[in-house]
Amino acid sequence: MRIAVFSAKSYDVNTLEQANGARAAPHDLVFLNPHLDANTAILAQGADAVCAFVNDELDAPVLEALSEQGVRLILMRCAGFNNVDVTAAARLGLAIGRVPAYSPYAVAEHTVALILALNRRLHRAYSRVREGNFALDGLMGFDLHGKTIGVVGTGRIGMCAIRVLTGFGCKVLAYDPYPSEEAEAAGAQYVPLQDLLPASRVVTLHCPLTPDTHHMIDEAALAAMQPGAMLVNTSRGGLIDTRAVIAALKSGQLGGLAIDVYEEEGDLFFENLSEQVLQDDVFARLLTFPNVVVTGHQAFFTAEALEAIAETTLDNADAVAAGGAPLHPVTVEMVV
Ligand code: NAI
Repeated sequence: MRIAVFSAKSYDVNTLEQANGARAAPHDLVFLNPHLDANTAILAQGADAVCAFVNDELDAPVLEALSEQGVRLILMRCAGFNNVDVTAAARLGLAIGRVPAYSPYAVAEHTVALILALNRRLHRAYSRVREGNFALDGLMGFDLHGKTIGVVGTGRIGMCAIRVLTGFGCKVLAYDPYPSEEAEAAGAQYVPLQDLLPASRVVTLHCPLTPDTHHMIDEAALAAMQPGAMLVNTSRGGLIDTRAVIAALKSGQLGGLAIDVYEEEGDLFFENLSEQVLQDDVFARLLTFPNVVVTGHQAFFTAEALEAIAETTLDNADAVAAGGAPLHPVTVEMVV
């Protein structure tokens, strides 16, 4: 199968080539640096499948263009599929595969790294020490032990986060429309979201971005949180209304923000823009706060996760090449 791999970085090329080379029937991989969007879809000419990532645009016009060129399979090399018009794909007869789980540990561990960094002001301490400033003013954190942490979404990543946080001696409150016995067995207590928000010193988001969860943390949710609480998002930027968060940070209602995702990250993340003027004023404002830590969608970025992403992506391709459906399909039922 000929697969056009969009948004291909050196690490994608390395891991996909390695996994592909080890297959009995390797695929023909064509690596393309650009994002997939309406302007670049033409680059998939001659491909049977397109392999895409979190910030590629797979809306109806892009899918139509791909389908007209003969593409019959979309291989998402990530878990989320909020950037794919799944209904349009079904209408066009395009199968979609994804990587539902590659390393939930990677994302959960990065989440906890963000909580610790923000709480203990590591982002500020690092620069201070390098400048010979060993003063501690402004660096005071709090013990995580004994604090209540609210985990929103108790799927694979939320579960890993719960296990790490209970290991720290935290009390974990959880909210998920589909509660799991596993989470309760791990020590989490399910409560409605309106009870989780005011009770939690830290709120961490681990649910997918859907029309229902878009801006679930808005002005009202922020007002319901404990004054001075910390908000952490390693899921998808659209879960948070960034402008409302900025207002809450300015007033002090929100005590800190740690994010690995941002709702307009598509124009920023995964690229070296250090020689350019930042055009996104909302993002630029976020970066001015001393109590905000941002990483550029790197929570997934471990060697184990990349290997698993490459293997599962090619497993999905193998299954379709053999005449079946992707091993891990995305279907219309998953979005309605
Ligand atoms: P999962 O599908 O295993 O779990 C998601 C959970 O969210 C499910 O239990 C579901 O019932 C729950 N949920 C759905 N709607 C909800 C709502 N309104 N409120 C609370 N919970 C709700 O997904 P997984 O693997 O745990 O991933 C979670 C999210 O993390 C993904 O959707 C993806 O957006 C993000 N992610 C981010 C990465 C990064 O590098 N920053 C890497 C991988 C995933």
